[in-house]
Amino acid sequence: MSSAQRKDDHVRLAMEQQHAHSGRNQFDEVSFVHHALAGIDRPQVSLATAFAGITWQAPLYINAMTGGSVKTGAINRDLAVAARETGVAIASGSMHAYFKDPSCAGTFRVLREENPGGFVMANVNATARVEDVRRAIDLIEADALQIHLNTAQETPMPEGDRSFGSWAAQIEAIAAAVDVPVIVKEVGNGLSRQTVLALPGLGVRAADVSGRGGTDFARIENGRRDRADYAYLHDWGQSTAACLLDAQDSGLPLLASGGVRHPLDVARALALGAHAVGSSGGFLRTLLDGGVDALVAQLTSWLDQLAALQTMLGAPTPADLTRCDVLIHGALRDFCADRGVD
Ligand code: FNR
Repeated sequence: MSSAQRKDDHVRLAMEQQHAHSGRNQFDEVSFVHHALAGIDRPQVSLATAFAGITWQAPLYINAMTGGSVKTGAINRDLAVAARETGVAIASGSMHAYFKDPSCAGTFRVLREENPGGFVMANVNATARVEDVRRAIDLIEADALQIHLNTAQETPMPEGDRSFGSWAAQIEAIAAAVDVPVIVKEVGNGLSRQTVLALPGLGVRAADVSGRGGTDFARIENGRRDRADYAYLHDWGQSTAACLLDAQDSGLPLLASGGVRHPLDVARALALGAHAVGSSGGFLRTLLDGGVDALVAQLTSWLDQLAALQTMLGAPTPADLTRCDVLIHGALRDFCADRGVD
């Protein structure tokens, strides 16, 4: 199967998943204690966030998805327009299709062409050769590099990678060779505290925990073939909220993605220590259902609602949300007890 076909399959199956999702996930087990006199005035609120030497005007980003086929190049164009119109950061999908076939460069390059002044992240996996990573960064003039870890996606794929043992050393080699900040991310199965603690020593500047609760790549890969041999890997891993709690004292700046459904989930993730919050499947659904204007409207509304929530909760900045009283319920509470999280 061609790489372009695989990229189109991912989009199609991710959208089937979006439409089939129950709507519930472990963010529902995080609630703010309501303090009726805690509110501040809206002009006091800023959405700006800073981590790893990076400053964003808002703690929201369009996370890695696609590129590599005609259809996904058009999607990247629309995502880039939405990022430009709302000032949020954006990540490319995995750029390995470009390494294999340079003729699809334009399907990634469009992220920079449509969004010349924006914050754009390149995306590769840990097996990428250093010279290819440099080409990826140059192609889209990337401001940062995401390296994705996806063992639970590779495993159900008959053609998937089975050699994971050198990934840490390869991340270290890549981080030493590039001059933009490196962010390691999962793809929807979460990063554990142990994983996050290993990253600073590899030269990584931030970790996007990208946990369970939204897009499920084991399910997507199983959906691409008749026999779903690995159906038991569906819902593998830790939820985004669990990851943030697990790694809260790791010392590495954390980003959050995976199952973020609305501005309250953004506020919850920020309160649990994330410096910024990303979404992939949900934003893609809005784009494909309603076009680029619908995505611009959604992003604009989320930023407005996040500022309103900060006003109500008495948090002048996103970082101040970490000082809000938060309650942890249900299985998430059990997870914290098992992992020794206070
Ligand atoms: C992804 N994701 C992803 N991640 C990555 O690092 N490189 C990639 O190429 C892709 N490709 C991709 C395609 C599609 C169609 C989707 C929906 C997602 C994973 C993504 O960045 C994110 O980690 C997960 O999707 C979890 O977030 P959501 O979708 O639950 O908000």
